[in-house]
Amino acid sequence: MPATTTTAKQDPASDHIDGTPANGPRHVAIIMDGNGRWARMRGRPRLFGHHAGARRVREIVEACPDLGVRYLTIFAFSTENWKRTQAEVSGLMSLFRRYITREARALRDEGVRVRFIGDRVRLDDKLIALMDELEAMTAGNDRVHLTIALNYGARDEVARATRRLAEDVAAGRLDPGDVDVETLPRYLDTRVLPDPDLVIRTSGEARISNFLLWQSAYAEYEFIDTLWPDFTADEFARLVHAFGGRERRFGAVKA
Ligand code: IPE
Ligand code: IPE
Ligand code: MG
Repeated sequence: MPATTTTAKQDPASDHIDGTPANGPRHVAIIMDGNGRWARMRGRPRLFGHHAGARRVREIVEACPDLGVRYLTIFAFSTENWKRTQAEVSGLMSLFRRYITREARALRDEGVRVRFIGDRVRLDDKLIALMDELEAMTAGNDRVHLTIALNYGARDEVARATRRLAEDVAAGRLDPGDVDVETLPRYLDTRVLPDPDLVIRTSGEARISNFLLWQSAYAEYEFIDTLWPDFTADEFARLVHAFGGRERRFGAVKA
């Protein structure tokens, strides 16, 4: 194996896969929205929509390698979603437990490395144990990096990061004069991930709902009408290809 490949693997922010179009999105983040409306259209309870939504994930993850998408981050449950009925919240929590139990082996065998971001404190011990186990059993994988945002809120993430940063300052480990734009990302849940290049939100809502605020500063956005349980690998591919046609300027003027 050439030395350059080995080096790249040690730094997730710099690795590229052979054959990836240079202008394709390396990291795609998805706000999977519309499960409730999908169920209501069928006269079914909201949880029916969540189950249908969970079944969509595998197809999208499996589509990533051929599309050159190395990192996929999905928004599964927000810090604000606790405001829903107790029945919906506990149904979602048991769905997450079931999802991890059922999908773990396939994810491992497909070369998917799974990580969770978000605050674990409000999650139950059984779910946390399953999350830890899935992260550990896929830790050696590198084909696709799947990050699941669970009890995730960007403001909460920045607040937790700032608390740790302040602790380091108080303990004399960090000089306030050294804090710059590179500092905070090292404290975020996403510290080992590159920033998303493309953020997709399904269901027709054109808002971010507290998802990856810092990390998506220069992401491209796609807001599509499809409800999440109807989202297919074909539509995903279309959005990934459309990204290649966008001109990203990062504040500069193109020569
Ligand atoms: C997204 O679907 C899943 C979660 C937020 C957990 P919703 O449940 O928000 O579906 P809608 O927006 O009510 O249709
Ligand atoms: C965002 O969807 C959160 C997830 C997809 C997990 P919501 O349905 O919770 O967002 P709002 O309430 O429409 O902003
Ligand atoms: Mg919603």
